[in-house]
Amino acid sequence: MTPPPEFSTPRLRLRPLEERDTQLLYDSVTSDPLTMRYLPWALHASLENTRSLVALYLSSRQAGEKFFYIAETRDAEPVGLLTLYPSPSKLTLGLIVIARHRRSGYGREMIRSVLDWASREPGEPRVVADCDVENLASAAALRSAGFACTGVLPAAGRSPNAGPGKRDLLGFSWSRPAT
Ligand SMILES: CC(C)(COP(=O)(O)OP(=O)(O)OC[C@H]1O[C@@H](n2cnc3c(N)ncnc32)[C@H](O)[C@@H]1OP(=O)(O)O)[C@@H](O)C(=O)NCCC(=O)NCCS
Repeated sequence: MTPPPEFSTPRLRLRPLEERDTQLLYDSVTSDPLTMRYLPWALHASLENTRSLVALYLSSRQAGEKFFYIAETRDAEPVGLLTLYPSPSKLTLGLIVIARHRRSGYGREMIRSVLDWASREPGEPRVVADCDVENLASAAALRSAGFACTGVLPAAGRSPNAGPGKRDLLGFSWSRPAT
């Protein structure tokens, strides 16, 4: 499955990440300990770290490997970041909502936009996601949008801001419902 250039929801437009989003990502995501707690990267010490990450993201998008979207309200207020990694058998989804916009249904809306698109794709579309077992917000948002929990994946990931070493993840999966 090749993700489309943009997604649209009743409240949001998800447009491709651009270099100009670097400061936003640093201020709202990569330098924020609470947002980064269960993400697989260490906190960024400077804007330069985030600049390098964005450059990596843009080149992997160019190569068609990974797709990054900034979700904005209709007034162009950024509310979050969506990541999609396609592979032959599935699409892996990741999600961040900026702290001041949480608990407003934006996370669910962003996930639903991807599942709605995937449900119209040919073949047997499958979308997967995972999160640290302690990441209750992520598990709740994934379930709320229509993912089924597939169980614990022992020592399958890292959350360096939550604790050292490998950590258990919860796996989630979505497939088109049978009609
Ligand atoms: C996980 C995250 C994306 C959720 O986004 P959000 O916009 O706040 O979620 P929503 O408002 O759409 O809520 C969706 C559901 O999750 C529930 N939920 C959200 N945050 C929750 C929390 N902290 N604890 C328990 N439930 C929570 C909501 O009640 C809602 O449930 P409902 O549909 O049954 O009413 C957001 O908390 C976040 O960005 N966290 C930091 C980054 C992160 O950990 N991302 C996931 C990496 S795998």
